[in-house]
Amino acid sequence: MDKIVKVENLSKTYTQGHEQILVLENIDFEIKAGEFAAMLGPSGSGKSTFLNLIGLLDDCYSGGITLFGSKIEPMGETEKAELRRKRVGFVFQFDSLLPEFTVLENVDMPAAIIGHGDHAAALALLKRFGLEGIAHKFPMDISGGEKQRAAILRALRNKPGLVIADEPTGNLDRHNAGIVLEDLKKVNANGAAVLMVTHNEEAAACADRVFHLSGGKLVETRTRR
Ligand SMILES: Nc1ncnc2c1ncn2[C@@H]1O[C@H](COP(=O)(O)OP(=O)(O)OP(=O)(O)O)[C@@H](O)[C@H]1O
Ligand SMILES: [Mg+2]
Repeated sequence: MDKIVKVENLSKTYTQGHEQILVLENIDFEIKAGEFAAMLGPSGSGKSTFLNLIGLLDDCYSGGITLFGSKIEPMGETEKAELRRKRVGFVFQFDSLLPEFTVLENVDMPAAIIGHGDHAAALALLKRFGLEGIAHKFPMDISGGEKQRAAILRALRNKPGLVIADEPTGNLDRHNAGIVLEDLKKVNANGAAVLMVTHNEEAAACADRVFHLSGGKLVETRTRR
């Protein structure tokens, strides 16, 4: 099976004043095409830090990251940006829709940014997930669950091979969390590898593989396949 993400000996240190805080320590990790991986860990253990590195949102680290078979380290900014925009979908931990654009415009944004904006295609995506009813609403006029679902569809817009979701169910009630998880399962069934951070064992139960991050170390605690 193709490796979508391969991380070797990854370490990350934050500097705060004169202090160095080691958040990730010598982590090895990989996920393959078609896999759904969940990551659990206490608040502050470095889960978002880890996702940001894999999602090419942070390039300050030591070790190696390989995405879709290509090593990141030798790449220039342009090449990294292109890889991120076209092949990685990122669902952020906190509310990330742009408030001055409609849901449809938000969902179409990743395509528009690479010059392929197409509202009809974005609407078809919303329809596929039963969200066409909110297409023309603004983020402030929809629920938290709908916002999170719209953010997932935005991440899917360029048909990424990898979807990274940082606590996508964190602020949702059980019912809406269930709907968001179903969306992510559907994304995975359609072929994208999914890497999801969650605080919730129940959410992790739908993953093929479960990892725990704590004390800078990542440990795989369950493998379904
Ligand atoms: N930009 C930064 N500068 C300095 N320290 C940071 C920075 N970002 C995060 N940290 C610290 O790194 C650690 C890991 O943060 P991170 O956000 O990755 O945790 P997390 O596991 O995602 O937590 P949560 O579950 O609350 O989202 C924390 O101690 C945090 O305070
Ligand atoms: Mg976090």
